[in-house]
Amino acid sequence: QAAEHSQAVVIGTGYGAAVTALRLGAAGVPTVMLEMGQSWTKPGEDGTIFSDMLTPDRRSTWFKDRTEMPLASFLWMDVANRDIEPYAGVLDRVHHGDMSVYVGRGVGGGSLVNGAMAVTPKRWYFEEILPEVNADEMYGRFFPLANSMLGTNHIDPEWFERSRSYQFARVSRAAAEKAGYKTNFVPSVYDFEYMRREEDELVPRSALAAEVIYGNNHGKRSLDKSYLAAALGTGNVTIETLSEVRDIAQQQDGSYALSVKRIDEFGNVLGIRQLTTQHLFLGAGSLGSTELLVRARDTGKLPNLGEAIGQGWGNNGNVMLGRANLPQDLVGPLESGMPAMGIDNWDDPANPVFAEIAPVPAGLETWASLYLAITRNPERGSFRYDPGADRAVLQWREEQGQPSIDAAKQLFDRINSVNGTSYRYDLFGDARAFENRFTYHPLGGLVLGEATDLYGRVKGYDNLYVTDGSLIPGSTGVNPFVTITALAERNIAKVLAEDIPKNT
Ligand code: FDA
Repeated sequence: QAAEHSQAVVIGTGYGAAVTALRLGAAGVPTVMLEMGQSWTKPGEDGTIFSDMLTPDRRSTWFKDRTEMPLASFLWMDVANRDIEPYAGVLDRVHHGDMSVYVGRGVGGGSLVNGAMAVTPKRWYFEEILPEVNADEMYGRFFPLANSMLGTNHIDPEWFERSRSYQFARVSRAAAEKAGYKTNFVPSVYDFEYMRREEDELVPRSALAAEVIYGNNHGKRSLDKSYLAAALGTGNVTIETLSEVRDIAQQQDGSYALSVKRIDEFGNVLGIRQLTTQHLFLGAGSLGSTELLVRARDTGKLPNLGEAIGQGWGNNGNVMLGRANLPQDLVGPLESGMPAMGIDNWDDPANPVFAEIAPVPAGLETWASLYLAITRNPERGSFRYDPGADRAVLQWREEQGQPSIDAAKQLFDRINSVNGTSYRYDLFGDARAFENRFTYHPLGGLVLGEATDLYGRVKGYDNLYVTDGSLIPGSTGVNPFVTITALAERNIAKVLAEDIPKNT
């Protein structure tokens, strides 16, 4: 069977991929996007597209027979997880020894399952992690462009103070401020106006109905509603779903040949499709894009790829923890699934921590305050190709997470001692207070300026580009999708100006 050809192919449909496809499409370049997950547009039998966190069904999870929640237990009981039928669900937890990585699967990638926190990094820290990127241009042009395209909005502070669904955040704020820490509102791509109407019971509930990590049925401006809708609107972009790119090779004429595994939503293999392209953009996320290039290098399909491929991976210093609230500090049964506030100690050189005040949307009083702390952990992992499994395996040891625990512990020990509170030891399946065996923020693997040039062009090959979180060297100091989006905008502007012929 002859291979089909497209001038440009974008692998994945997450942040980097969506930006790239829109800009290619708008410039008149015919572009095919290949996404291994489904398009989340069809309601299930219950009339909703996604299942919630309290009653997850097969739609929640990517091919597993039991859900794998980040909070493994409550009062040490296995109450959070459910047996399910293996299916092309929306959230995957990819296991790599001591580290597992949560990723979104479907048209929109991580935007389908994330907490919508749209945070621009501190400029001084951005300049430190990517010193060769022009920060004036990023902060003057590309961060504002990314936020406006993503639909970032801000909570009304007056509503926050009286909202029932943010009592949990006010309780955490009071405890942090008593210990001398500063808190900030966090911008979001969840529509706060919609949320307000949810609380007033004027519209169907989503953030207030325990919907987050398995998708939101309402209120969230995920990429399918922003960048991808605009990309499809150009008329030059098509999206192929349930299509996983397995192999990339270069042909004699310099174009790229892709093998694409096509499945149905139950995992039956429908066939392997061959596709060729002039310009290939990798937007399969830190794990996905890195695996594709590590495999291509180590199986000899792209032999010019260098040693920097698969290096510089980090978990953005993620560590999760809970505190036990005092008996009188009730947060109530209603918690918005969307975080709106963080404890911001990032400017403290001795102990930089940015801790998102996270909800526990259990529908009952939990006496728990939960946090996802972002810390400045210098440890990095790398990927090794395992020929038996045909997989790129992350090399990361549990002790590499210790600097994150130490940093979070210093901040929260102080909050606990000033408030007379303690940690929760019942949330992570055993008796640990700090959980960093998983991350929501995989970054790196194909680092900008090392595996690629300063615009994401892969070293050793022409017309091969990286667009996603794998470009960022392991840390952004805040939740990463705004940084990924802005960097992708910057890179594709350069590539369109210099690499893609105008007459297409
Ligand atoms: P992303 O991972 O979004 O997309 C990659 C896509 O490629 C996926 O759709 C995947 O299925 C597809 N793919 C992979 N391999 C493929 C292959 N071989 N062939 C075809 N397709 C392939 N960030 C933030 O800023 N604020 C927040 O509040 C949160 N909260 C949060 C919660 C949870 C539960 C998670 C899991 C993550 C977050 N994040 C977050 C992180 C954020 O979602 C993440 O950083 C971005 O989605 C990463 O964007 P990328 O463009 O790198 O890829």
